Amino acid sequence: MSTWCIHLAAGSGTRFGGEVPKQLLDLLGRPVYAWSVEAAAPHCDGQVLVVPASLLDEPWTSGLDVVVAGGAARSASVRAGLAAVPADAEVIVVHDAARPAAGAALFGAVIAAVRDGADGAIPGVAVTDTIKRAIDGVVVATLARDELIAVQTPQAFRADALRAAHATAADATDDAALVEQAGGRVVVVAGHLANVKLTHAADLPAIADHLR
Ligand code: CTP
Ligand code: MG
Repeated sequence: MSTWCIHLAAGSGTRFGGEVPKQLLDLLGRPVYAWSVEAAAPHCDGQVLVVPASLLDEPWTSGLDVVVAGGAARSASVRAGLAAVPADAEVIVVHDAARPAAGAALFGAVIAAVRDGADGAIPGVAVTDTIKRAIDGVVVATLARDELIAVQTPQAFRADALRAAHATAADATDDAALVEQAGGRVVVVAGHLANVKLTHAADLPAIADHLR
């Protein structure tokens, strides 16, 4: 099945701060986003990188088929990436370029689960903290921890399911949420704790330690 990967690198890195966007920082000799492109390459027929409009002319790494400008919200950036994926792609993977330690095996695992029949496949890891719902500082519920997972990217989808889920201008923190809302069957594969999303400045040395 023809498989394309969309790498999201169009965020502004507000929480990370600094002069250089976090997705462009050097990580052990190559830019943060390039780790993801390399990890996905063995499993993808084509790769799209979504970047801030102001950075379209950067010398982006080799291995990419298309570089497009993203939108103001993550979901808008996904839709910009989707528009660049050929209509005949059957599986589409969406990945946060801010997760440089995902690794090739995880791309392979989510893609395999979709090829096996799921509408979507996402990496999940067990939650170790107790999670409660609180409104205005008052706890209203304690959730059953054994049912909870923390979800990562890469997330793979049947292309038609992902395109349908994004047909409206809906917004969500991950793409699986939109596919779930549309009635799709999303399965969980084992994520890994090292697949941290580069969010705060302190995350970078920790990710480098893992990749070294
Ligand atoms: N992203 C994107 N387009 C946006 C917002 C986010 O492509 N409009 C991407 C980011 O580049 C990142 C991923 O989505 O790879 C996850 O977003 P996040 O970690 O929140 O990154 P930023 O939005 O850049 O950071 P912040 O929220 O701190 O500003
Ligand atoms: Mg963000």
